[in-house]
Amino acid sequence: MAEQDEFRLDGKVALVTGGARGLGAECARVLAAAGAKVMVTDILEEAGAATVAGITETGGTAEFRRHDVTDEAAWATTVTQTIDTLGGFDILVNNAGVEVVGTLEDSTYEDFRRVQNVNVDGVYLGCRQAVQAMKPGGVAGRGGSIVNLSSLAGLVGVPHMSVYGASKGAVRVFTKDVAVECGRFGYGIRCNSVHPGLVETEMAESLYQQSHELTGASLEEVKATFTAAHPLGRLGTPRDIANAVRFLASEASSWITGVELSVDGGWAAS
Ligand SMILES: NC(=O)c1ccc[n+]([C@@H]2O[C@H](COP(=O)([O-])OP(=O)(O)OC[C@H]3O[C@@H](n4cnc5c(N)ncnc54)[C@H](O)[C@@H]3O)[C@@H](O)[C@H]2O)c1
Repeated sequence: MAEQDEFRLDGKVALVTGGARGLGAECARVLAAAGAKVMVTDILEEAGAATVAGITETGGTAEFRRHDVTDEAAWATTVTQTIDTLGGFDILVNNAGVEVVGTLEDSTYEDFRRVQNVNVDGVYLGCRQAVQAMKPGGVAGRGGSIVNLSSLAGLVGVPHMSVYGASKGAVRVFTKDVAVECGRFGYGIRCNSVHPGLVETEMAESLYQQSHELTGASLEEVKATFTAAHPLGRLGTPRDIANAVRFLASEASSWITGVELSVDGGWAAS
């Protein structure tokens, strides 16, 4: 008899925010390939539809809904649509995020509030909606796994990243609060955070450009410096992150909650 593969996600329904591109799109593809039905949400409609088309073309099941994670009322609608369309709600990947690069002294409060709004308020709203829906007696009601995308910058200090780091640090401890509360209440809901090092996405491209403008170093030098910060000697790939998310989403991690999982080529350990 075949051994049960606890890394598979057959029968599960996942919602991935910010799934139009970058890490979110790869998470959606990897979760779908593992057997989950995936609701991809984002504010980028064309790119979100393209992510979904790529999944369905390879035999997976996915849908796209436009959803700004800072829109409180739309969270309830998105979760209801997910359950109606895909038949449940078992996995939430709070991936949508924005970044601001620059010194603390030159930062604006407006930027700070904007980053908090997406990176912290968005994660708070998502977790609250998921817990209400996934807990016993909730509209989905079969427990679940929540994975929040924090960052290396939510664990250690990084120059030019204070505004972003403040938001990702908040996600780190908030994740543990959700994990412990849901555990103690017997909800069958786990909550963990993933902390990527630098991964080659559009966010990383923007980081190179802004670091180049701030320091005067060439783009090649900027990239070499970031690469060297990772003891494994390379930048991350979206797949590196999506594989960790898949593990935390699956039953293979059923005794793991409240964990901060660094996926950073060893940067945080150095
Ligand atoms: N790329 C990295 O090196 C890196 C490192 C550490 C952490 N992260 C985190 O991983 C996550 C994904 O990063 P990425 O590199 O793929 O970034 P990205 O900029 O390539 O993609 C982010 C996605 O989030 C969406 N988004 C932004 N604001 C939104 C909102 N209000 N509502 C809904 N969607 C919104 C964007 O439209 C985009 O599709 C982010 O939370 C980011 O902070 C990335």
